[in-house]
Amino acid sequence: MTTNEQHTANTTTLVLGGTGKTGRRIAEKLTALGRSVRLGSRSAPIPFDWEDRTTWAPALRDIDSVYVSFQPDIAAPGGADTVGAFAELAVESGVRHLVLLSGRGEPEAQDAEARVRASGAHWTVVRASFFAQNFDEGEFFGPIMSGDVALPVGDVGEPFIDVDDIADVAVAALTEDGHTGQVYEVTGPRLLTFADAVAEIARASGREITFTQVPLEAYSAVLVEHQVPAEVIDLLSFLFGEVLDGRNAHVSDGVRRALGRAPRDFSDYARDAAARGVWKV
Ligand SMILES: NC(=O)c1ccc[n+]([C@@H]2O[C@H](COP(=O)([O-])OP(=O)(O)OC[C@H]3O[C@@H](n4cnc5c(N)ncnc54)[C@H](OP(=O)(O)O)[C@@H]3O)[C@@H](O)[C@H]2O)c1
Repeated sequence: MTTNEQHTANTTTLVLGGTGKTGRRIAEKLTALGRSVRLGSRSAPIPFDWEDRTTWAPALRDIDSVYVSFQPDIAAPGGADTVGAFAELAVESGVRHLVLLSGRGEPEAQDAEARVRASGAHWTVVRASFFAQNFDEGEFFGPIMSGDVALPVGDVGEPFIDVDDIADVAVAALTEDGHTGQVYEVTGPRLLTFADAVAEIARASGREITFTQVPLEAYSAVLVEHQVPAEVIDLLSFLFGEVLDGRNAHVSDGVRRALGRAPRDFSDYARDAAARGVWKV
């Protein structure tokens, strides 16, 4: 793939969630390529807040392309409308290309994709499976460190994706020709159950970590006890109660289609994260 004229022009990319799991990596990779980056988040120098639309226009000023990762979750009720309104404002503000981070098998996420496609911008969708990094940078880190991961999920297989692969796909879409109008369904190279994933982390980190399947109601009750916000509990209940029903238990070729290489394996993620000491007591 070649770098096109527009991409080499002096242009700035707004990276939403620019300090988060995917955005941080994308911002770093773009910067390493010599691209101009503006971070978009509540704590950024030009603050951007999904919940305060008055912050959107200033963040979009003089921006050519945007990496769109929605908060709190692309599958959250109302997410599609908010992402759609943002995409329309982005186009009005002169943005040429939107790269949307989406989720698999989630009606609200697929509605958000449709709203971005309808915005009039060039678009690329990166539709991702569960992130491997949920286990060291996300909501499963605490349970891993406690030594017992109790989740309302059984033998369903999930092709966990390494977020470095998501970042590589997004950066390619933002800097190269040939990715406009593509939906890249990105997954890891094989299915693992959550029990398999926890066992791999236990092996790589040398820690004893058990996995227990619990009923959804018991899981929600523990979250309430830990004062997790109600909307987060609803989202996790939706993910575990509905999305992990086998509909996503297949691998996809998005990483290979976008990058011409295989996705990283979960074992490599676990080995490298353990080597960095992320699960050290
Ligand atoms: N985790 C998964 O397995 C998975 C799988 C598929 C898709 N997804 C999707 O991935 C997206 C999340 O991406 P991520 O995991 O890279 O992000 P993340 O790690 O959850 O990112 C947090 C980032 O979002 C910013 N942020 C938080 N609240 C915000 C708000 N109200 N307005 C603006 N920025 C806000 C934070 O910065 P500040 O605190 O400074 O605002 C930070 O930069 C979600 O849409 C989710 O549906 C996740």
